[in-house]
Amino acid sequence: MAKIPDRRLRRLRYHPTLRAMLAGVRLSVLDLVAPLFVRSGQGTRGVISSMPGQFQFSPDLALETVLGWSSSGLRAVLLFGIPDSKDPSGSSAWDDDGPVQTLTRLIKTKAPEVLVITDVCLCEYTDHGHCGVLSRCGERVEIDNDATLPLLAKAALSQARAGADLVAPSAMMDGQVATIRHVLDAAGLVETGILSYAVKFASSFYGPFRDAAGSHPQSGDRRSHQADFANPRGNICEALADIDEGADILMVKPALPYLDVIASLRRRTDLPIAAYHVSGEYASIQAAARAGWLEERAAAIEVTTAIKRAGADLIITYFAGQLSGWLAEGA
Ligand code: PBG
Repeated sequence: MAKIPDRRLRRLRYHPTLRAMLAGVRLSVLDLVAPLFVRSGQGTRGVISSMPGQFQFSPDLALETVLGWSSSGLRAVLLFGIPDSKDPSGSSAWDDDGPVQTLTRLIKTKAPEVLVITDVCLCEYTDHGHCGVLSRCGERVEIDNDATLPLLAKAALSQARAGADLVAPSAMMDGQVATIRHVLDAAGLVETGILSYAVKFASSFYGPFRDAAGSHPQSGDRRSHQADFANPRGNICEALADIDEGADILMVKPALPYLDVIASLRRRTDLPIAAYHVSGEYASIQAAARAGWLEERAAAIEVTTAIKRAGADLIITYFAGQLSGWLAEGA
C-alpha cells in the first residue's frame, strides 16, 4: 500500500482564484518594451520573413502602431533604424533626420506618454556590418574600440536631442557608457538615461534580427566584443563595469538561455535590470507554433513570466504587442 501523503501541495492549486492569489510573479503590461524597426519613406511596411508578425515601418505607420499599443497600455518602445545608405563609419547613425530620430520626434509630439528607447550601435549603419569602425592591425582587421566610442556618442547625442528618454548602447565597446554619459552631460542632456546592453552575448539567436536590420557582418563574427556564454564570471564583470561607468539600467541579452545571469545580477545590484527576449527566441516559438508543435500564446506567457521571475524589471520582447492584448483579456 502506498503511503498516504501528509502534505498535499495540490490543495493550493485546485481553485483558480487561490492559485492567482498565491502567484508571486505577475506579468503586467508595464513590464514590457516593444522593439520596432523603422526605415524612411511614407505609408510603407516591409515584411520580415524570419520574424512573422514583425515589420519594417516607415515613421508614419510606426507611429500608428505605437498609438495603438499606447491605447492598450503598452507604453515603451525600443527603436532600431534601417538607413537609406551605409558607409564604413556608419555616419547615418547620427543623421538628425534619420528614421529613428524622425520617429522619436513624432512619438514625443503625438504620444508623449510613450517611453522612447533608442538602440545605439553602428552595425545597422556600416557597410561592413560590424558594430564599430575597422582598423588594420598588421594582417588582421580589428574593430577599433577607441575610435568607435566618439561615433557611438554622436549617435546617442543625435537620438537624445530628438527626444529619446533612454539611449541603449549595444555595441559592446569598452567605455561606451562613460563616453556617452559624458557627451550627453556636456550637452546639458542630464536627464536622458542610459540603458546599457551590459551583458550582450555573442549569440546565434540574433539571426532574424540581422535579416530585419540588414546587419549581418560581411566577414568574421562578433566574438571579440560580445560576451562569451562560457564565461559566467566574466559576464558579471561586464555588468559591474557598466555600473561604474554610470549605466542607469542594465540589460541581459538574450534572455531565456541566460536566466542565471539575470538572477545573479539581481543579487549583485539594486539597479533595474532589463532582459531582451531576442529575435531568434521569438522566431523559435513562432516556427514551432506554425508547425503546430506548441501553442504560441501559452508559450509566450510562460517564457515572459520566467524572465520576470528570474529578476528582470523590464522585458523587451517582440511579443509585447500581443501580450498587451492577452493581459487585457486576463492572460
Ligand atoms: C546591435 C543589436 C543586435 C540586436 C540588438 N541590437 C544585433 C547584433 O548584435 O548582431 C539583436 C536583437 C535581436 O536579435 O532581437 N545593434
